[in-house]
Amino acid sequence: MQGQTAMVEREPRTIPVASRSFGSWRVAVEREVLETDRLAQRYDEEAKGWKKTLRRLGVPQAYRSVFETWRNRRGLGPMEARGFKVLDAGIGDGAFAAGIVGALGSMIHVTGLDIAPGMLDLAGELFEGLGVKHALQVGDARQLPFPSNSFDVVISAHMLEHLDDPLTALREMLRVLKPGGELILAITKRSLPGRLVQLLWRTHAIEAGDALGWLTDTGFEAASLLELQGASLVRALSVFVTATKPNQDAGDALGSRPINLAGFGVRSLARSARS
Ligand SMILES: C[S@@+](CC[C@H](N)C(=O)[O-])C[C@H]1O[C@@H](n2cnc3c(N)ncnc32)[C@H](O)[C@@H]1O
Repeated sequence: MQGQTAMVEREPRTIPVASRSFGSWRVAVEREVLETDRLAQRYDEEAKGWKKTLRRLGVPQAYRSVFETWRNRRGLGPMEARGFKVLDAGIGDGAFAAGIVGALGSMIHVTGLDIAPGMLDLAGELFEGLGVKHALQVGDARQLPFPSNSFDVVISAHMLEHLDDPLTALREMLRVLKPGGELILAITKRSLPGRLVQLLWRTHAIEAGDALGWLTDTGFEAASLLELQGASLVRALSVFVTATKPNQDAGDALGSRPINLAGFGVRSLARSARS
C-alpha cells in the first residue's frame, strides 16, 4: 500500500426514526444527525426568538411544575437545597434551570454548559435577573469539563435527543454527580409534536420506557417518571425522568444530607430514593 493514501470512510452518525418488521424482514429508517458545529450555529440563530417561543408554549411553567413534583417527592425545601450545586447540560436559555430555581429557591448554584454561545448569553441574563449564582461555559455534554463527583443535581432538557449516542453524555452526567446525587431529564417523546421536532431537528423521539432503559444501562438507579399534570403541549412533547447515582461510599453528597421528608421525619435522600 506504499504511496497510496488509505481512505478511511467515517460511519455516518445516525438516529433511528422508525422501524417495522414484516415476517423475517425488518425495515429501519435512520437519519444523519446534525453535526455539532452546525447544530450550535442553528441554535445561535434561533436564540433571538427562543425565549418568546418557550413562553408562548408554556414551557417555563411546565418545567417549574416538574421540579415541584420532584421536590415534593424528595421532601426537599429551600433550607435543604441551600448551596446545592446544579449542572444543566445543554442549558439553552436557562428555562429548565430556572424551573429548579423556582422550586428550590435561589440559594442554589447553577452551572450551565452549552455548545451555543448565543444561548448561554440568554441564560446569563436570566440568572442575573433571578439573582442566582451561576457559571456558564461553552462545551460538549459528551465530554463534561468538570471533575468527578462534583454536583448534587444534574439536569438536562431536550439536549440528549440531539446525540447519536446519548449514553456517552449520560455516563458523563453520572461521573460528575456526587454519589447519591440526582439526575432530572426531559427528552422528546414519540408523539405528534415529538415527530415534528424530530423532522425539524433530526432528533430522537422516544417512549418513556426507552428513557428509563437509557438510565439503567448507564448505571443510574431508582429511575422513574416524573408526571406533568394537566394537558399541555409540553406534556405531549416531553418525557420527564429522574434517577439517582448509586451511593457506594457515603461521601458528603446530597445522598447523605439529612433532609426533611414531610411526615416521615428526617431521612437521607438516597434512602428515600431507594424506598
Ligand atoms: C432544545 S434546546 C433546549 C434548551 C434548554 N435545555 C430548554 O429546555 O429550554 C437544546 C440545547 O442543547 C444544546 N446542545 C445540543 N447538543 C449539545 C451538546 N452536545 N453539548 C451541550 N449542549 C448541547 C443546544 O445548543 C441547545 O441550547
